[in-house]
Amino acid sequence: MAEATDRPEVHLRMLVPDDAEWVVATDRASATALAREHGWETGKLAAELDEGVWASDDRWAWAVVVDGDPGGFTLVTGLDQPDAEMTVRISPKVRGRGVGREVLRQLADHHFSSNPALNRLTGRAHERNIPMQRVFNAAGFRMEARYRDSFVQPDGNYASEWGYALTRADWELGRHRSGGHGYDLHGLTLELDEVSEGPHMPGLLIRFLQENRRVIARYDADTLLDGELAGILTGDLLRYRFVHTEELADGDSREVTGRGRARIQRREDGRLEIVDQWSDERGQHGRWVLVQPLSEVAGDS
Ligand SMILES: CC(C)(COP(=O)(O)OP(=O)(O)OC[C@H]1O[C@@H](n2cnc3c(N)ncnc32)[C@H](O)[C@@H]1OP(=O)(O)O)[C@@H](O)C(=O)NCCC(=O)NCCS
Repeated sequence: MAEATDRPEVHLRMLVPDDAEWVVATDRASATALAREHGWETGKLAAELDEGVWASDDRWAWAVVVDGDPGGFTLVTGLDQPDAEMTVRISPKVRGRGVGREVLRQLADHHFSSNPALNRLTGRAHERNIPMQRVFNAAGFRMEARYRDSFVQPDGNYASEWGYALTRADWELGRHRSGGHGYDLHGLTLELDEVSEGPHMPGLLIRFLQENRRVIARYDADTLLDGELAGILTGDLLRYRFVHTEELADGDSREVTGRGRARIQRREDGRLEIVDQWSDERGQHGRWVLVQPLSEVAGDS
């Protein structure tokens, strides 16, 4: 979790031929199974930068400067069309500190103001690329498409990607800088920290997905299977319905449905915490606190 005090100074500048060497090195270092290398060769990239291939009417390459040093790069193609597409690579050593989302905000400011014909800034994230999905959300981009089998993985199998876009109207409304909808649970896993009322639920783990205000989650515990939850987040309050299968002591099982209200807040150490009050259709109820495991926060990207 990037904290406000920890935010580095980020700016974009045009790439020049002398940048080719670190760009190629950063490209190799930042490639993952979810975002492949561009496969550049230093001399060829330097020549392209010299010839202006990456500063033209249809494409632009930016150096991402983080606290004065090169920290990654971002490319925009299709600038001569109403829909331009961006990609970004941030060096592993500066990830998880808010650089990615600031890059998208600055890209939007630059390209929408300097290119009046541009109507949409788009991008894609591998379906399991949670950091990039969170970056798009934080910079006001909306998820609007699923491209099935569009990404060839290192093992030759296909994966799907999510398509995101920020429109000119979004940009004019300042959505790229508004912090979106507040809390973002997308891709986070929370575990049970404390039960203040009701039954204990050892082993409870909840995995969230979020798109704008819509939140869904899957959960399991030692004696609870196939939990599904769906709700709407308003400010810091998630109102939801749930259904799961409870395993009984006699080996039997039963389906349980119910509803709950969960209040989201951030702890001093930066972890998200949820104070949850729930009740089921048989009148059972409980109140507990869930929190992001420390390992998940420390192990960013
Ligand atoms: C994706 C990428 C650009 C993000 O850059 P970044 O500077 O780390 O981005 P930010 O710090 O602004 O945001 C990353 C978010 O992901 C979160 N995150 C990181 N790892 C996570 C994980 N394993 N599970 C859940 N969230 C995770 C961070 O906590 C942060 O969220 P938050 O601060 O809103 O809580 C960078 O990781 C990267 O270059 N990856 C390799 C290339 C790539 O995937 N590019 C995208 C395809 S175009």
